[in-house]
Amino acid sequence: MSFKIEYERFVNRTPNSCKLFEENKLFTPCGVHSNYRVHDPYPLFIRRARGSRIWDVDGNEYIDFNMAFGALVSGHSHPLLVEELKKAIEEGTIFGHESHESVKLAKILCQRFNLEMVRFNSTGMEVTMYSIRLARAYTGRNKIMKFEGCYHGSNDNLLVSVKPHLSKAGHMKYPIPVPATPGLIPEISKYTVVAQFNDIESVDKLFQKHGDDIAGVILEPVAMNMGVIEPDLEFLRMLRKLCDEYNSVLIFDEVKTCGKWFGGVEERYGVKPDLKTLGKAIGGGIPLSALGGRREIMELFGPGKVSHAGTFNANPLSIKAGIVTLEKILTREAISNAARLGERLAKGYRDIVVDYRIDAIVSSIGVSGAILYTSQPQVRNYRELLKCDFGKWFGYFISMLNRGIIPAATGPDEQWTISVQHTPEDVEKHLEAFKEVAPIIKKVEQPIGVVEAV
Ligand SMILES: Cc1ncc(COP(=O)(O)O)c(C=O)c1O
Repeated sequence: MSFKIEYERFVNRTPNSCKLFEENKLFTPCGVHSNYRVHDPYPLFIRRARGSRIWDVDGNEYIDFNMAFGALVSGHSHPLLVEELKKAIEEGTIFGHESHESVKLAKILCQRFNLEMVRFNSTGMEVTMYSIRLARAYTGRNKIMKFEGCYHGSNDNLLVSVKPHLSKAGHMKYPIPVPATPGLIPEISKYTVVAQFNDIESVDKLFQKHGDDIAGVILEPVAMNMGVIEPDLEFLRMLRKLCDEYNSVLIFDEVKTCGKWFGGVEERYGVKPDLKTLGKAIGGGIPLSALGGRREIMELFGPGKVSHAGTFNANPLSIKAGIVTLEKILTREAISNAARLGERLAKGYRDIVVDYRIDAIVSSIGVSGAILYTSQPQVRNYRELLKCDFGKWFGYFISMLNRGIIPAATGPDEQWTISVQHTPEDVEKHLEAFKEVAPIIKKVEQPIGVVEAV
């Protein structure tokens, strides 16, 4: 079966999504409320979700491995969360004062992620923005080092070299900072130093050149906006060493990774940053993010000092969701069980890729993994990611949807997430669908639609 047939099949299965998309475009730019949700020919419109399942407006049922771009390691509407939130909503949705339980959640987060202090927000974008502000205030410097291909939310400070076009990106080791969107002031690029992920030499040389001006270095310690790219341990250690040498603040953006292991990246790799940003999974599906780290830096927040504010910060519903999620749902055991399913899924993919002689790499870490269509032996940074076949990825994505599997988050640079509510049967069904789709992917030559969004 050719991909053209799969494409038509998708359109035939989803007329109501198409209709809503067309209608939405009249009122909403591009018909979506986040650029990342756009894909060809149109995104699915969803009616409801529960556990590992999600249903679109045409009544199609899917096993969901997108899990809201990794925000739902708890799975959809976890019963414990539903029960506790029903009770919580009766007691008030927002107070305009501190919620009595914010203390409890602050303690849980500090213990679990080895933080001395923490402040809450709602989204990942906010906490990465605040982390940069703190780094600048703490050091009295302006420049921020980030890595090509890393995404830290849609905040102006960090919308540089997220998915730059190769023609503009300059030398692989010393990339040119490329604004990721119109509407940024040019100074943003001037104050951003862009390095190559997993490349110690690139970072070292840039520190030699800009070191005394670098307020902070921010990275996704496991690059999860480039599929799943693990850092070399030496790379993380070297970043720590250079930040110490140059008195720069090291920031791990753990908005995605904080849900991948019980204690996040530090527990897995043993490298401690000065600040960590947490988001997505910690709220179990309710907006909750946190910025935490060294007391000396965090204590800069305060009236008359560094600004940090937000009407919805630490509202009682988010706080309750955080407590239930971290205490009762994302326990060490539950995450380990989900990670075992993740390993089974990745192994199944690897076997199928070999059986069908598909040029692809399957990378995985615990609950998340990704398939990149490429003949390269490995993908360790953005430049290597760009050599992957995004057309094949798109063919795979649509063909899997037709078989009732949302295989991963939308985008060839995204990944799948296994939640604590997925079952071994869900994983086997995913693999059965991939086995059917494998021969189709081989035939996809031209990108019919690619996902491109910031
Ligand atoms: C690593 C990382 N940081 C920050 C963000 C921004 O989070 P949010 O979408 O909640 O603003 C994202 C979102 O995908 C992310 O992947």
